[in-house]
Amino acid sequence: MSQHPIGRQTVVTDNIAFAAAELRLGKLIAFPTETVFGLGADALNPTAVQSIFSAKGRPSNNPLIVHISSVEHIDDLAKNIPAYARELCAAFFPGPLTLVLPKRDHIPDATTAGLDTVAVRMPDHEIARSFIAESNRFIAAPSANRSGRPSPTTWEAVFSDLNGFIDIILKGDQSRVGLESTVVDCSASHPVVLRPGSISLEDLQLVVPSSAYSTEAALLARSPGTRHKHYQPEAQVRLVGHPSEIPIGESETAAFIGISAGATTELTLVAGSVSEYAHHLFSFFRTCENRGVKTIYCETIPKNGIGWALMDRLERAASDT
Ligand code: TXA
Ligand code: MG
Repeated sequence: MSQHPIGRQTVVTDNIAFAAAELRLGKLIAFPTETVFGLGADALNPTAVQSIFSAKGRPSNNPLIVHISSVEHIDDLAKNIPAYARELCAAFFPGPLTLVLPKRDHIPDATTAGLDTVAVRMPDHEIARSFIAESNRFIAAPSANRSGRPSPTTWEAVFSDLNGFIDIILKGDQSRVGLESTVVDCSASHPVVLRPGSISLEDLQLVVPSSAYSTEAALLARSPGTRHKHYQPEAQVRLVGHPSEIPIGESETAAFIGISAGATTELTLVAGSVSEYAHHLFSFFRTCENRGVKTIYCETIPKNGIGWALMDRLERAASDT
């Protein structure tokens, strides 16, 4: 997909009222959240929503998450909300959880890619929530990267991918979580995870014990986003069980990120925990690009807790399809 420039530089600001007023006029505004930065437009304005797809070069069959500033707004977007979805809301909103629910008719096809469901999330981030509330709109927002690239966890990363393609970047600190939200389908009899995130299956099961992973086939049918290429920096990403597996002789053009010490690479990040590893991953990818690193070696970790989401992103970043 090609990107469409706006013909001028993107404005970088911390003025929430200004960004909210521009959003109401149909403009594209990137904003910080606790997961990654989002690229927002008025979710009920199809023309504004379509411009998100052209700014990112995003395939139009990949639906967007609609962001709200207050839990009651879920009823303005969705209908026939199951009781278990209300329980997930009560436990995890605001936070890094997205619920896929039967949509109300007024939500345009551009936002949901023509599906009969809508994805809803309430961010746990002061600036994000003030921006949504001040705009007095529901905000459709994918991650604010060019399609296929690592999600942005700093405003500078948004600028580097989308300067000249979007109207405004609302500034904020580096995203706390660093990986995108857990996406849970709530349109059938029990919760089904479509995309892992920092809220793990174990966390969901504590609230709704029947919560389950999606099968590969159901995932392809239900979550269009998982079909596309994702999270890929310009450098090659390779997975290793331990830094000692990095080939000798490659150290000078390689980087390592993980939780075990011992790498002798040009650029090395040893995180103190798996969540710290997740927090740094996407910004480390971009630092490696800027330093001309050829191969980024990433340590594999057990697939439990946030490790599940982190391994999902690592496997996609390392795949060539
Ligand atoms: O943390 C996040 O979720 C960030 C911040 C900005 O909120 N947003 C984000 O959006 O990661 P995006 O567009 O990069 O990923 C949204 C995912 C995609 O995999 C998409 O296919 C899925 O959610 N999705 C959205 N609406 C859906 C629906 N109605 N049914 C199934 N999957 C849906
Ligand atoms: Mg994305």
